[in-house]
Amino acid sequence: MEDGLGGKDHPRIVDGTLGLGGYSEAMLREFPRAEVIGIDRDAEALRRARVRLEEWGPRFSAVYTNFGNLQSALSGEGLGVSGWQFPPELKSNMFDAFVFDLGVSNMQLSEGERGFSFQRDGPLDMRMDPEGDAPTAAEVLARTDAKELARIFWEYGEERHSRRIAAQVEECRRRGKSPQTTGELAALIRGCLPEPVQRKMGGHPARRVFQALRIFVNDELGELEAMLEQLPALAAEGCLAVIVSYHSLEDRIVKHRFRAWEKETGWGRVLTKHPVLPGEEEMERNYKSRSAKLRAFQFSD
Ligand SMILES: C[S@@+](CC[C@H](N)C(=O)[O-])C[C@H]1O[C@@H](n2cnc3c(N)ncnc32)[C@H](O)[C@@H]1O
Repeated sequence: MEDGLGGKDHPRIVDGTLGLGGYSEAMLREFPRAEVIGIDRDAEALRRARVRLEEWGPRFSAVYTNFGNLQSALSGEGLGVSGWQFPPELKSNMFDAFVFDLGVSNMQLSEGERGFSFQRDGPLDMRMDPEGDAPTAAEVLARTDAKELARIFWEYGEERHSRRIAAQVEECRRRGKSPQTTGELAALIRGCLPEPVQRKMGGHPARRVFQALRIFVNDELGELEAMLEQLPALAAEGCLAVIVSYHSLEDRIVKHRFRAWEKETGWGRVLTKHPVLPGEEEMERNYKSRSAKLRAFQFSD
């Protein structure tokens, strides 16, 4: 009996942004014969998702890695390293669906000590993989000159006051007071923008700088490009690629890549001429979904 996904008896689905496993769980339920492999670079998320999805037994497995390493993560070698082995009968590197729900999770945002939130005080970390060796946001601020910081704030946050804020960071650094906590950075931003400017900004005045730093610290756009480069080689006939993005920078990358796969390489077709947006009810229930855009591509048979 087939269960509807690409007409396969045993579809193999990759959840490239496992988080707490909400998407994986929904897919395990929806496709009773599917096997789901979840990837995340946040070891804590992975631990929690494993507990949540334990009841699904061998139909679910989790890999601790960056999806920018998609190919090695999904090769027998990558999975072996992370303690997961392909059942021998399934030893193949082709998959029937890939799902990516980009960006940070609610868990990462809501736990102050992860340093993502301008509303919760904590160390200025912002690494999705705090067990890795990439520099923290505090280290980036302490080491990067004002010109480059302004570029980061503008390019990844579209922050109009990028130069003023970057100059203030440099000034604090000169006084030996480079921000070490989310509260200190939020206060620095507030302190260097006049009240009327802050009122006009719409939303918290630190929102754009926090977004920009987070994207930079985690090289989010670079990893997305790397993943999109590798995905086609792993796609079985009829494979679906579904990507949900939350800001225009990542959505643009996905849109262009899908279009190139259709028009330039002829690998399949874009299923979403326009991105799918959340309905009113979804937006009420889940605030974060307000900025979500879903795009889907299907590889040819
Ligand atoms: C929006 S959350 C996903 C939530 C998930 N769909 C759920 O139902 O719980 C994004 C997750 O992707 C992870 N992530 C983001 N970029 C990643 C990357 N380049 N490699 C691996 N994991 C990544 C984050 O650590 C986070 O846990």
